[in-house]
Amino acid sequence: MWFPRCVRALLSVFIVTSSLNVFTALSAAKQPHIVFILADDYGWYDVGYHGSEIKTPNLDQLSASGVRLENYYVQPLCTPSRNQLMTGRYQIRTGMQHSIIWPCQPYCVPLDETLLPQLMREAGYSTHMVGKWHLGMYKKDCHPTKRGFDSYFGYLTGSEDYYDHIRCAPITPLNLTRCALDFREGEEVATAYKGAYSTELFSERASRIIQTHKSNKPLFLYVALQAVHAPLQVPERYLTPYSFIKDHNRRVYAGMVSAMDEAVGNITSALKQSGLWENTVLVFSTDNGGQTLTGGSNWPLRGRKWTLWEGGVRGVGFVASPLINQPGSVSRELIHISDWLPTLVNLAGGKTKSTKPLDGFNVWNTISKGHASPRLELLHNIDPLFEDTSPCNGNSWAHSGFNVSIHAAIRWSNWKLLTGYPGCDVWFPQPDSDNSESKILEMHSLKPVMLFDVEKDPEERTELSAKFPTVVDYLLGRLSVYQKQALPINYPDEDPKCDPGPEGAWGPWA
Ligand SMILES: *[C@@H]1O[C@H](CO)[C@@H](O)[C@H](O)[C@H]1NC(C)=O
Ligand SMILES: *[C@@H]1O[C@H](CO)[C@@H](O)[C@H](O)[C@H]1NC(C)=O
Repeated sequence: MWFPRCVRALLSVFIVTSSLNVFTALSAAKQPHIVFILADDYGWYDVGYHGSEIKTPNLDQLSASGVRLENYYVQPLCTPSRNQLMTGRYQIRTGMQHSIIWPCQPYCVPLDETLLPQLMREAGYSTHMVGKWHLGMYKKDCHPTKRGFDSYFGYLTGSEDYYDHIRCAPITPLNLTRCALDFREGEEVATAYKGAYSTELFSERASRIIQTHKSNKPLFLYVALQAVHAPLQVPERYLTPYSFIKDHNRRVYAGMVSAMDEAVGNITSALKQSGLWENTVLVFSTDNGGQTLTGGSNWPLRGRKWTLWEGGVRGVGFVASPLINQPGSVSRELIHISDWLPTLVNLAGGKTKSTKPLDGFNVWNTISKGHASPRLELLHNIDPLFEDTSPCNGNSWAHSGFNVSIHAAIRWSNWKLLTGYPGCDVWFPQPDSDNSESKILEMHSLKPVMLFDVEKDPEERTELSAKFPTVVDYLLGRLSVYQKQALPINYPDEDPKCDPGPEGAWGPWA
């Protein structure tokens, strides 16, 4: 117990120490290694400790030894969550409030944003990234190695093949779909990994970085796994325990989750074997809710990936570390993916002075000691361009006035307000249960403004706007304040120059 407190005490002493050399030398010895594992499209009901039929012994044990975050939020999509993780700022601040970055769109997280790995590097860390970037790549300045990572091994876009690492994407202005490699080692195209299943490839690479890490510097390792995003692909051996699952998608998905669970186990073992574990903080998080179209489940939450319902934004997440003051606890405090930047940089003894104003909070005392969260409010998003690309039952809003026709949601204390069409709004049945299809197709009367008490009603079943008009007014007012601060949406047309040709690889073209 005394050790982490001691680290903090030392850090505060260092902050007032005038000699920079003393600061660097001593703090370097105490700075924790930080390993951040991000899963892709991993649903609320897909982890063993939420009751899933999918087995995740490593995630269950690791989280049980740390702190499970049960009131933890992410963004509903890949790029937005990663953007907020890396900047500590809401999407409205970067003009990236709409959708993901498609391979041929010429933009990336604005280059005047300071990213998490840059701050870790400034604090004296070795910084490494393995896996999916998806924060823009049209020019080299946007790439991970130009934005704070010493090394990079992975892919720049999303949803590629797990084995051949080929990503097929439309190039609209050329009226064609291009299938090309998306895999890099540093800034170079890497062709040598064809055939290797990415979950194994990435966990091996992460383990190697850990094993070869020189312990005179603290380590910051960001592992953005491809698992468990579609396409549904997994080596046969992971499927064997799941013959009892009748639904094909769910069965393959379950195998993919098992592979991911093993990957997390392997990375943790590498940390333990290399002696780094005693001074490591490991964060595990999903990037958004599960995709029910490809095997994921967020039961009993409403909606799914791509929506502002809890099924899209309430994320699986935990922290495991011998440095936690209250190991083995469950946190029900409000925490958001934008909180990691200030939290981790502070843990690292670094500074957030060079960032633009942060939306994230330092939540380390909330996680480690069970203190109340400093976060009282959470802007889920405001996206005036939102369209659900695969509406589940045809619901959509006829756009009338400004405010409430816009796809937006905000959380304050126990309240969550949604405006516009939040996206596919059904309660998908528990996997492998006998709930009938008709339940999926049930129509719901959505209102342009909806209020839920998500503390009492996490399933968003009882709409309360008529009962609490003052709460509604207050939260609509907060949304207007945020909307006034929002940058115009940056969502450029595809640039045909992106085309790598049939033999090339996706990569920078500008
Ligand atoms: C796009 O390609 C398809 C198939 O090759 C063709 O039928 C269609 O006319 C093309 N459209 C345009 C706008 O060129
Ligand atoms: C985990 O490590 C074992 C032993 O090295 C290896 O056989 C297995 O493929 C690894 N699993 C993953 C997902 O990397």
